[in-house]
Amino acid sequence: MSNNVFLRPPHLPLVAPSILAADFGRIAQEAMDVQCAGSDLLHIDVMDGHFVPNLTMGPDMALALARSCQLMQDVHLMVTDPQDFIKPFIDAGAAHITFHVEAPGLKHSSAVDLIKRIHDMGATAGIALNPPTVPEMLDGVLPLVDLVLVMSVHPGFTGQSFLPETLRKVTWFRHRLSPKQRLEIDGGIGLRSAHDALEAGADVLVAGAAIFHASDRAATIQLLRGDYPR
Ligand code: DX5
Ligand code: ZN
Repeated sequence: MSNNVFLRPPHLPLVAPSILAADFGRIAQEAMDVQCAGSDLLHIDVMDGHFVPNLTMGPDMALALARSCQLMQDVHLMVTDPQDFIKPFIDAGAAHITFHVEAPGLKHSSAVDLIKRIHDMGATAGIALNPPTVPEMLDGVLPLVDLVLVMSVHPGFTGQSFLPETLRKVTWFRHRLSPKQRLEIDGGIGLRSAHDALEAGADVLVAGAAIFHASDRAATIQLLRGDYPR
């Protein structure tokens, strides 16, 4: 866990480009490029075509990306059965796994169980919630997780519009998390929504289209963090 930036952040907020918005035909170069542009993490969106209506990448892709890009991988499981994918991604080198509180598979293995499993394998654990889910759904696990991920779009695709009503949940969690726990926001993050999310208390920003479609990725990452040129 020593290089885990969620445990020892070099600064806050952290910026995590979502590789989902990259050009998949040049995916390794794209990952290297956002590393050189000053990103803190690489956000890996894992979709199974069942929990969300899209298919993306598995542990082999994560392993391949890790050969070109040394950024810590922030794995976001949008899958029906997160219990089946924890070990494969950690074996592939992931230092962090987030799963959804709405995942049907939690009927078989509880969220508490999965968090313990992730920790026992040496990674940090996060829990995500979709826009319609109330924050109280996380009551039982809040003290156990290293990170809460507030979805600010309905999960499934990059390039959607930010849902401002989700900021209320960011504020709600900010008042309940300890300084050691990270609060991540994901979906539709651009300069304006990043500013609003940071004001509401987020300290990890996931951004796909805003970074990968930018003409100057390094400047965009700095601006997302709130570092404005003087
Ligand atoms: C949405 C994913 C996000 C998304 C971010 O289901 O979890 O990580 O790809 O992309 P943008 O920033 O383009 O909304
Ligand atoms: Zn994501």
